[in-house]
Parts: sequence; C-alpha cells; structure tokens
Amino acid sequence: MFISKFARLGAKACMGLSKAPVTIQSSNSSFPIVRNGYLESLSSKLFSSAASGNSQGECEEIQKISVTFLDKDGEREIKVPVGMSMLEAAHQNDIELEGACEGSLACSTCHVIVMDVEQYNKLEDPTDEENDMLDLAFGLTETSRLGCQVIAKPELDGLRLALPAATRNFAVDGYKPKPH
Ligand code: FES
Repeated sequence: MFISKFARLGAKACMGLSKAPVTIQSSNSSFPIVRNGYLESLSSKLFSSAASGNSQGECEEIQKISVTFLDKDGEREIKVPVGMSMLEAAHQNDIELEGACEGSLACSTCHVIVMDVEQYNKLEDPTDEENDMLDLAFGLTETSRLGCQVIAKPELDGLRLALPAATRNFAVDGYKPKPH
C-alpha cells in the first residue's frame, strides 16, 4: 500500500518534471523547449549521460504499474509502462490475449474482466463503440472491458485482469468461438 502510493506520487512528480519548460544553455545563447513528446526524448538525451541513478532514470522505472493477468493456468504479474494499453502489454509479455483487430475496436477478442470494482471505477468510461463490441463478448460481466482500450495510468497500479475462457471473433473469422 505504502509503496503503491509512493510510486504514484513519484510518477506524478516525474510527469510534472517532464512538462516543465526547459532551457538549454549553449555557448552564446539559450532557448526554451516546451513540447511534451519532443521534450521527453530530448531531455532523456540531455540527461542520459549524467551519472546513473539520476532522477530521469528513476522516473522511467516509476512510470510503470503492476498488472496481474489471470487465466486458466494461473496468474502472472507484469510491469506496464504508463500510457500503454493492456493489449500491447499482454502481447509484449506473451500473455494470450488475442486482439484480432489490433485495437481498432472491430472485435471483442481482447475482452478482459477487471477483478476489482474499485479498479474498474478508475477506468475511463467505455465509448459507445467499445460497448457495442463488448455486447458481443463471450462471458460478459459487469466489469468487462476491452484490453486495447484500457490504458495504464498510475492510479491503476495493482490492476488485476482475468482473461475469459473463450472469445468470439466476429471481425476476422466470422463468429468462431476460440478457446484459450
Ligand atoms: Fe479488437 Fe480490442 S483488439 S477491439
């Protein structure tokens, strides 16, 4: 509990750091850089040669959350970078979450069940498109979501997701139940 709160605070601090305007000093001029994506990559270059253990390196570690996937074979905890979808995270870790349409909201094969209602309530509300696909999911529950639409954020640290016993793939195979 304490570690989790600490990690969230740290992640917020890191995010605040990355959004702060930065001034680069050169031999005869200085200029501010305020773009987020660019700033992140640039600032990592700027600070990457600094001593190990600096705040940038620590931020990269903290900006991951723990997510546990449960399936018929048991459970597995992985670290997921903030901003990454659960579908991408599952694929990167060889977890059998199908994702036939690769996140384009045209299937329900990335169906996951959020095990904890409190965690479920921290998620962004599903869009109409997601709800339409969820209606087609095998074994739909009150806390079902599509894994490609669940994006890691610090508040979701400790998220537990169950994989349903089967999926229906309307988009690619034309209504073929596929057991896991
Ligand atoms: Fe098809 Fe998520 S992968 S909707």
